[in-house]
Amino acid sequence: MQSTDGADRHAEDAYEQIAPVYDDFTSHHDYDTWIDTLLALGASHGLRGNTVLDVGCGTGKGFMPLLGLGWKVTALDISPSMVELARAKAGPEVRIDVADMRELQNYGSFDLVLCLDDAINYLHSAAELEQALRGMAANLAPDGVLIFDSNTLTTYRTFFAERVVVESHGRRLIWQGHTGGHVEPGQISEATFEVEPLAPGTDRRVPPETHRQRHHPEAELRAALAAAGLEVAGVYGCTTDGVPHQPVDEDTHTKSIYVTRLGRAE
Ligand SMILES: C[S@@+](CC[C@H](N)C(=O)[O-])C[C@H]1O[C@@H](n2cnc3c(N)ncnc32)[C@H](O)[C@@H]1O
Repeated sequence: MQSTDGADRHAEDAYEQIAPVYDDFTSHHDYDTWIDTLLALGASHGLRGNTVLDVGCGTGKGFMPLLGLGWKVTALDISPSMVELARAKAGPEVRIDVADMRELQNYGSFDLVLCLDDAINYLHSAAELEQALRGMAANLAPDGVLIFDSNTLTTYRTFFAERVVVESHGRRLIWQGHTGGHVEPGQISEATFEVEPLAPGTDRRVPPETHRQRHHPEAELRAALAAAGLEVAGVYGCTTDGVPHQPVDEDTHTKSIYVTRLGRAE
């Protein structure tokens, strides 16, 4: 769907639909370990302090471990339903806005800006990527660190080609990839997500909604980062265990992790 200002709202539509069952569908993701790993990675590139802006926070799976570690969290997401769930977990102390990362306002000067679990792949052009990265850069403290991940070709050739079914709370959650396994660098891939009741008449069926993600080639990400005034401190590949490896291998790693900082004036 497009909004009246012409912006593509497909991610909002997709997450409004999946929100009520998002945590069930992703319950196998170990964020405590992932966040520890990312903090250690950030620290190896100079991350200090305790303020974080979580961009595309979803239901708060990324920032909840940080809250537990004493970080001061500010967060945002484009989907009002995801934000509502995140607010319920975080409590009233934490500011969580409904906002679009392509039009980020200035929330402050953060030690850490995070954009996790392929939120950035919902942006479909170099221009959108650059807009979002500029907004993230503008919210960084001078010595702050931006960490984000982007899905690799492996993810679009596997998860976006597969049918994944999770049964939970009397419902069948169905992810159906549509790429057929053939995906070129920079391609937009689609999958649909729907919900069926396990027993007839016990729950409402939720019709399919499309998730549309773009694979961002490393050269394009690096160009967008440079245009946004950000320097790459390190790029790592990982599989589902989240352990960072160098160099990134698009044929075996499922995500690449970018650790970036504001560029230094010469
Ligand atoms: C796979 S979820 C990840 C959520 C969270 N970061 C996590 O790790 O659990 C991707 C999130 O990105 C959000 N998103 C996608 N496009 C966005 C945009 N333009 N601005 C803000 N959030 C966006 C979606 O609404 C969704 O909550």
